Amino acid sequence: MGLTRVSGLLFGGDYNPEQWPEHVWDEDVRLMAEAGVNMATVAVFSWSRLEPRPGEYDFGWLDRVMDLLHANGVAADLATATATPPPWLVREHPQVLPVDATGTRLDFGSRQSYCPSSPVFRTATVRLARAMAERYGDHPALAMWHISNEYADHTLECFCEESARHFRRWLRERHGSVDGLNAAWGTSCWGQHYTAFDQVNPPRKAPGPVNPAQLLDWRRFCSDALLECFELEREVLREVTPEIPVTTNFMSVLHGLDYWKWAEAEDVVSDDAYPDPADPTSHVTVALSYDLMRSLRRQPWILLEQAASAVSWREVNAPKPPGMMRLHSLQAVAHGADGAMFFQWRQAKYGPEKFHSALLPHGGVASRGWRDTLALGADLKRLAEVAGTPTTAHVALVLGWDSWWGLEAPESMPSNRLRLKELLQAWYGPLHAAGVAVDLVPPLGDLSGYRVVIAPNLYMCTGEQAAWLEAFPGHLVVGPFSGVVDSDDQVHEGGAPGPLRALLGVTVDEFWPLPEGTVQSLRLAGRAVPARTWAEWLRVEDASGDTFGDTEVLARYEGGDLDGQAAITRRGNAVYLGCLPEDVTPVLTEVLAAAGVEPVAVVPEGVEATRRGDHLFLLNHTTDPVKVDLAEPGTDLLTGRDLAGPIEIPGRDAVVLRLANSGARRTDTESPLTNEGER
Ligand code: GLA
Repeated sequence: MGLTRVSGLLFGGDYNPEQWPEHVWDEDVRLMAEAGVNMATVAVFSWSRLEPRPGEYDFGWLDRVMDLLHANGVAADLATATATPPPWLVREHPQVLPVDATGTRLDFGSRQSYCPSSPVFRTATVRLARAMAERYGDHPALAMWHISNEYADHTLECFCEESARHFRRWLRERHGSVDGLNAAWGTSCWGQHYTAFDQVNPPRKAPGPVNPAQLLDWRRFCSDALLECFELEREVLREVTPEIPVTTNFMSVLHGLDYWKWAEAEDVVSDDAYPDPADPTSHVTVALSYDLMRSLRRQPWILLEQAASAVSWREVNAPKPPGMMRLHSLQAVAHGADGAMFFQWRQAKYGPEKFHSALLPHGGVASRGWRDTLALGADLKRLAEVAGTPTTAHVALVLGWDSWWGLEAPESMPSNRLRLKELLQAWYGPLHAAGVAVDLVPPLGDLSGYRVVIAPNLYMCTGEQAAWLEAFPGHLVVGPFSGVVDSDDQVHEGGAPGPLRALLGVTVDEFWPLPEGTVQSLRLAGRAVPARTWAEWLRVEDASGDTFGDTEVLARYEGGDLDGQAAITRRGNAVYLGCLPEDVTPVLTEVLAAAGVEPVAVVPEGVEATRRGDHLFLLNHTTDPVKVDLAEPGTDLLTGRDLAGPIEIPGRDAVVLRLANSGARRTDTESPLTNEGER
């Protein structure tokens, strides 16, 4: 299912006309047309204006907005408006409001003030979604549905009685019986044996550490409960407007929601990304989330929200220096986005986000920001032919939410310093620096086409997952503290890496977490490399004491408590790291060479190279000009110039080459977000 009403790349942002008098709207759409805006996200927080009293709708103002947008060539990403329940709903039914882990009911006055399990809330959202679909299903501006907004941003979980009942139903479904639950949760520990489901509660605040298996199921439940909210609305939209694609905006690499599961439930993946302009490495961090978004459905996605300059929710909200807004937008496109949209169109006059930047700043059309908006709109038009083009990667990073939730359970782990995002970045950073294209895959995902699979951490690993990795014919790299527990968070007997022991040819004798400030050195590729968070005492033998024989030791610890012990091993094509070296580049370089993985292009430090179809993106994230030697000539879509050989790219600038030798120029600008299968 594609966005049949928009072609080229999407450009625009959240548009909140209800915050402005109507006479401003004419100026809005005139300026949108001037900037080349082709999509606006509308009605995200409009429930209280659209349904001011129960069942009584006021669609007049939104009718006029939709008509105005359409008349000016702007398509609508129309929200179902359910992200904030209206005051009348929460006052009539206070049980709609969420309750925190201490039992405090949170009041109205912000947004997302709802309990995901509340039947009253759910029924009201479905009723509004139906009213919206019936009202606007045939409107020519409608191009995409936007259900709710950033699920789990403020409200991921609710600990009320309704949620407790819902959790118990979910547990009954998962475990079948109380005995099943007792076995899975290991309730013989600390005297928690249950005799009935109604004795089980959400993990509310307790005197000491809560059962980690209970927490794990709670994390699964919370992701599922919100997904049910999404699906209830989606069902109505599919029934009334089956041809309109449905999305909800994700929040990059988010701990709370299992985005693999969520992405299956929507038609188009969209994301909100806010790299911190003050962090010189934020373009690397954000690239990982862009690659995740592309990988979720293995198709182009939409950057639905980013900041034009500063945000309003950090301690200090740094603005984007000249060039960065454009460069970051192009970066999203370089990583598979078919649109670069923003929060928001016009900078707010009031509310918590009045200092958040926008495409049209407080300073109006005389501002630097507005000039940047015009320039970006023009650039995105020049890149129209990129829409719909695919990305090919030969390296995959494994990311699974169950394992992540298990790994980051508070208060019961060998160390709280092993954080999944950091473990992912430890590999992603050097891959990015090497110019290698990367996909993400879920445990048990399709590995065909990949030459290298890296699991930075697979704390939770089932027998089925081990068989999946065993069947992978390419080069495998597994990071520390993997294969530790099964899907119920119960430790694999015989020691880690559990079901991966035979594949990796190694057994962990003891975990050796490193406190802050402690360094365990290892000798890697002839150099002393520090490990700062984690190490393991490894045995190159199986649980019964028989050596695996053919396991090679690639690196040993040097000095400290683990002096001389194996730190990194290899058996066949499978490398295991019992530690997290400060820099994994030497391991990576060897594996990539053995697997024959080439960089997209050879580029200097700070320059990012990605490829989409026949297009090569070169993005200079440094502030200085850089020289790049082009392996193939091409035409820079941004300037129209034909380029070959050595070229110079100014600081914070980019080149997007249509490669001359890669086939005929695409003349059609296919609708973005058309599913691969339909192309
Ligand atoms: C997210 C939300 C928006 C807005 C921005 C601010 O993207 O979806 O409503 O709050 O954050 O950065």
